[in-house]
Amino acid sequence: MKEIKIVPSLMCCDFLNLNNEIKDLEKSGVDLFHIDIMDGNFVDNFAMSGTEIKSIKRITNIPLDVHLMVKEPLRYIKYFVDAGADIITVHIEACTHLNRTLQEIKNNNVKVGIALNPGTSHLLLEPIVDYLDIVLIMAVNPGFAGQDFIPSTVNKVKKTRDFLNSLGFNNVEIEVDGHIDIQTIPPLYDAGARIFVAGTAGLFYGDRNYEENVKKLRSCVY
Ligand code: DX5
Ligand code: ZN
Repeated sequence: MKEIKIVPSLMCCDFLNLNNEIKDLEKSGVDLFHIDIMDGNFVDNFAMSGTEIKSIKRITNIPLDVHLMVKEPLRYIKYFVDAGADIITVHIEACTHLNRTLQEIKNNNVKVGIALNPGTSHLLLEPIVDYLDIVLIMAVNPGFAGQDFIPSTVNKVKKTRDFLNSLGFNNVEIEVDGHIDIQTIPPLYDAGARIFVAGTAGLFYGDRNYEENVKKLRSCVY
């Protein structure tokens, strides 16, 4: 089987049962926990918070992949570092002082991610590429679970992978968020993505048998 990272989107959990949800997801062998932070401004929704990150950090050793869908995230980097983030991803569209924002994440010894909305070109990565550990490519417009996959994402992943390699940054990983399932992983993998955020499409569905669902996601690329 090929090496991929499966990353559950914790906003899809049953929050009344979060402790058990985290334990079940751990048992299913996931690689990171994806935590969506929404400010009701950059996107038209609210999601998780630093308070939840702190609680989750107390009960797991799995690294926390924090996706900030927040305007001007520079103001909150320290707050999320202190809460326990291991990776902080900011949206390129949300930062007036992008370079400073990425520098601030790096200065705090946390991995740096940059997220691109479906309408944003990968070519904008060039001036900031040397800060990056991860490029998070949105396969849906951010803000809500349960949306349809945007097909042009596959080509964008391919172009982004080639672009990063052409600049000598083969080590920067590509993560995809939005409608990840057994249909979308294989073409995204072939295009160069290795980290997959699993939400309602591929993991939190049916009777929520996480172990079985994670196995299915991993075995769709072999
Ligand atoms: C927002 C979230 C959602 C979602 C992904 O960034 O990460 O995109 O939960 O899962 P789906 O699209 O499968 O519900
Ligand atoms: Zn996300």
